This record gives sequence, structure tokens and C-alpha cells, in this order.
Amino acid sequence: MKMETLSVIKGDYNLKDYNQAYENFDWTEVEKNFSWSETGKVNIAYEAIDRHAEGVRKNKVALYYRDPSREEKYTFKEMKEYSNRAANVLKQAADVEKGDRVFVFMPRSPELYFTILGAMKLGAVVGPLFEAFMEGAVRDRLDDSEAKVIVTTPALLERVPVNELPALKHIVLVGEEVKEDGKIIDFLGRLETASKELEIEWVGREDGMLLHYTSGSTGKPKGVLHVHNAMIQQYQTANWILDLKEDDIYWCTADPGWVTGTVYGMFGPWLNGASNVIVGGRFKPETWYQTIEDYGITVWYSAPTAFRMLMGAGDELVKQFDLSSLRHVLSVGEPLNPEVVRWGVKVFNLRIHDNWWMTETGAQIISNYPSMEIKPGSMGKPFPGIKAAIVDDQGNELPPNRMGNLAIYKGWPSMMNIIWNNPEKYESYFMPNGWYVSGDSAYMDEDGYFWFQGRVDDVIMTSGERVGPFEVESKLVEHPAIAEAGVIGKPDPVRGEIIKAFVALREGYEVSDELKEEIRDFVKKGLAAHAAPREIEFKDKLPKTRSGKIMRRVLKAWELDLPTGDLSTMED
Ligand code: WT7
Repeated sequence: MKMETLSVIKGDYNLKDYNQAYENFDWTEVEKNFSWSETGKVNIAYEAIDRHAEGVRKNKVALYYRDPSREEKYTFKEMKEYSNRAANVLKQAADVEKGDRVFVFMPRSPELYFTILGAMKLGAVVGPLFEAFMEGAVRDRLDDSEAKVIVTTPALLERVPVNELPALKHIVLVGEEVKEDGKIIDFLGRLETASKELEIEWVGREDGMLLHYTSGSTGKPKGVLHVHNAMIQQYQTANWILDLKEDDIYWCTADPGWVTGTVYGMFGPWLNGASNVIVGGRFKPETWYQTIEDYGITVWYSAPTAFRMLMGAGDELVKQFDLSSLRHVLSVGEPLNPEVVRWGVKVFNLRIHDNWWMTETGAQIISNYPSMEIKPGSMGKPFPGIKAAIVDDQGNELPPNRMGNLAIYKGWPSMMNIIWNNPEKYESYFMPNGWYVSGDSAYMDEDGYFWFQGRVDDVIMTSGERVGPFEVESKLVEHPAIAEAGVIGKPDPVRGEIIKAFVALREGYEVSDELKEEIRDFVKKGLAAHAAPREIEFKDKLPKTRSGKIMRRVLKAWELDLPTGDLSTMED
């Protein structure tokens, strides 16, 4: 079969020769880029911000921030000072100490970034929450991690069930005219008067810094803990995959509620001393193109759903903006359709570089590199220093072109350290012979390119967000009208997948459009807007195993008109 390939666009890239780098790679060489390799003093926030603030990049802009109501910029020196102030507020008013879990729950704003960095400077573990989370989602995460402090806004505080969280000692509110009393602390009022000086808490390389909750196919969301050592891989991937250089203006569109928004919305670029653009507010094609034009974005990291929406907005729109500053475009989160890659070549005259990783991996793992030929539809090749393979269910490596489990050999620098409170779950990711099993199925072709095939489990990827069907089902059955619920991902041309719920009603309830709306709203308000089913179908009964487990694969087969497969475990 003749493969479509896109050849390299000429340029001076940080990674010149992939094969050569892969053969000669040594992570200990990367460590020399950090000041701790000489001083022994470790802290990711120091390496990301202070190190530059104390050197030649002192007056370079670290953060360009824009949303519909604000437009600001901060140099590395200012970022250092503001994150120190935030740290001092957290330390003095909220008693934050090394190892404490500090959650941030607010829309994007400069203060959000000062807070994340400030908490890390105290050695705290930061748990970022997506602003769309509703009470149930917030409670699960704070409860599981026994969070001591939450930093939020007066509007979002309504969704924090303070009285049900005994470990939660302080609530830091970011808003105008906050009245302090009891647990409540006024962040902005204290920030301006807090000291710019701080004694950073030096930590161990294996100490925690970031706790991202993510969904699996069963159970509540799991707390994936990342440690300061992750900076090694976050730095090097941002250097070779994002290809960041001194003059770049970089924009990552992800929210820090998700791992892309912390690792490549903060650490990757700042560890490399890059100027980082952060845009708040909602997605609109016009605003996005305008952002590229206004800031002269050179490197742009986004997601397939966004590219598909831009594609849907039409090529005429693209022509109304000057996007000539762009030189490197990347995508992550879901499969990037070859069609979108071709569209990228047509309208930007650039290749969109797909790459693969997940919350658990802490940094990019497989990627297309600017100096490498691209096969549209492929995720690319493993990062130097990382061994990836396709293995069968026993952990045997499979030859090229055979589908199996996408696996990574354990021990890469940014690998998750624990699953919070759940050692069994952590262990379950690994095979006895050392392979970390991702939960994705894929194959590798004869040239070593990896091709994504799907999830092995029932996890749903909708608009690039990972949703556990069990969480949605659990919320659905809390609705008084619902007896049972089964949730699947249904393929969708724009969003990758949409959430579809099959529900059986309790006695006495009638099927109606109003009820559908009400159910959708119930999940929206109880969990999160992105977790609400776009489609709801009523059924008298749902397919279940004899042990009572909803058989999602049967629902999926119904939906897609596919054979249902083995039904021997289904109840009569
Ligand atoms: C899952 C991880 C950290 C990236 C953002 C999502 C899917 C990720 C790709 C890709 C096809 C992809 C996988 C993976 N995924 N990148 N390039 N092509 N699928 O992080 O929420 O932890 O989700 O996203 O299924 O397992 P996440």
C-alpha cells in the first residue's frame, strides 16, 4: 500500500535528527539544564520562573494574558514576584505547608497562575479543577485527596460543599471586596500587600507537585500524582516536540483543569524560558484567529475538536486574518483525522503535528517531530529515551502491523508517582514484566510509526475531554425518574465522540422531551456541562450481566448496528 506522507518543511529545528537522537539519548544529560543539578535544590516553580527571573530573561515577557475583560503581561521577574506573593498569602493566611493539597477552582486569570506556582513554591501539591465542575465533581476530588485549602471565586464557592469536607481548613477567595471571616481568606486584598520575597521550600525530586483527577471506565475519578522530577521530560519534550526557541510566542489553548493546560500551558514553555500566551473566555473561531494575529503566535498547541471546529467555520474566515507568524502547529487529545491535517496544509501551509500522551504519563510520549516525515493519521514515534511498543495481554511485544495494547516501558521521568489513596489501581496499570498499559489500542507500522485504534475500555473522549461512563451513569441514577442507565461514546464528526445515555425509567414516569431536557440538566448541574449526555434514549430495560453490570458494549453495538458479540454473560 502506498502511504501518503508529508515531507519536512525546511527549518532549523531543535531536534535535528530523530534517529540519531533516539540512539544516543541519555536523560542524565537533560538534568544538566536545571540549576538543581549543581545546587541540589529542587523545585519546579523555581526552574520554570525564578531561574529566568534571576538571569538574562528577567525582563522577557513570560505571560501574555487576555480574556474579554483583561489584557495584561508579566515578565519573568514579575511572575516571580507575584507567585512569591501568592505563596506568602497561602503560607501566612492559609497555613499551607509542604505536602498539603491545595486546590484551584477558577476560570483562567493571571491570579490562577500565580497561585499554582506559589503553592508549588511552598512544596504543596496542587489539584486543578476545571471551572465547569459542579458540586459532585468538586466534592469527590477534595474528599479523596483531603484537600486543606481551596482557592476559588465567590461565584464558584456555591459549588464547594464546605460542610461536607472535614479536611478543608481554608477557603481563599479571589474576588472584589471579600469579607474575611472564619475560614474565608481575601486573596486579592492580601496579594498586594504580601511580600515579594520568599524562601522557597526545596523538595525531593520524587515529592508531589500536581494532582490531576482523571476518569477511568469504572469507579470515581482517580488522582494521578506527578512529582517535581517530571520537569525533566516536560522540559525536553517542549524543546524537541514544541520546538520552542528564544523568540517564540507560544499559545496552548488548554485549560489547566486538564493536564495539557498545566504541563504544556505552564511548565513546558516556562522551563524553556518561552513567552507564553494564555487566553481566557469561550472558544470562538474569530477570537482564536485574532489571537494568532495580535500576538504573532509562532507555535500553537491545540486539539482535534478545535481544529475541526475551525475547519467547520470555513476557509474564507482564515483569509481575513494575518496568520503568517505561525511556524509550528501541534495537536493532542484524540485522533487527528488525516482530513484535518490536509486542511491545515491548505489553509496554514503548515503540517499539524499530532502527538500522544495521557494524564498518567505526565508528558508527551509519542509524537511527530518537525524534522520528521509525517504520515497523516499517525501519532508519530516514541520520544528519545522512551520505549513504546504494542504488546498482547500477556505483555509480549507484537511485530509491526499487529493491533494490541499501546504500552510504555516503565520508568520515564514524568511517569505518575501514585494514584492517590489507591495503590491497587496504580499497580493495575503495569504488567509484571514492566510494561505500563495505556488502555489504548494501536499498532506500529514497519517504519516505527504508531497508529491509534481506540480505547480498550469504555472511556469516552468528547471534545478532547476524558469522561468516565460510570461517573455519568452514577449521576443519572440519582435522578428520581431513572431506574438504570448505561452510557457510551457515540462517534461524532466534530467532537470525536458525544455522550449517549440509555436510560430505563422507574414505574410511574412517562417518556417525554421535557424529561430528557431535565435529565440533561441534572447531569450538567450535578457533574459538569461536558459530562451531560447530548443524546438520551429511553429503554424498558438495559442489557446487563448476570452480576448486574451494564453491558456497554451491547449498547454500543445497538447504536452502531454492529454484531453484539458474546452474550453468554448477559442476564435473561
Ligand atoms: C487519552 C488520554 C494528555 C493529552 C490530553 C488527554 C486519548 C490522547 C491522542 C492522540 C488519539 C489520543 C487516548 C488517551 N488521546 N492523545 N494523539 N490520538 N488519542 O489526556 O485526558 O488523560 O486522555 O486521550 O485515548 O488514552 P487524558
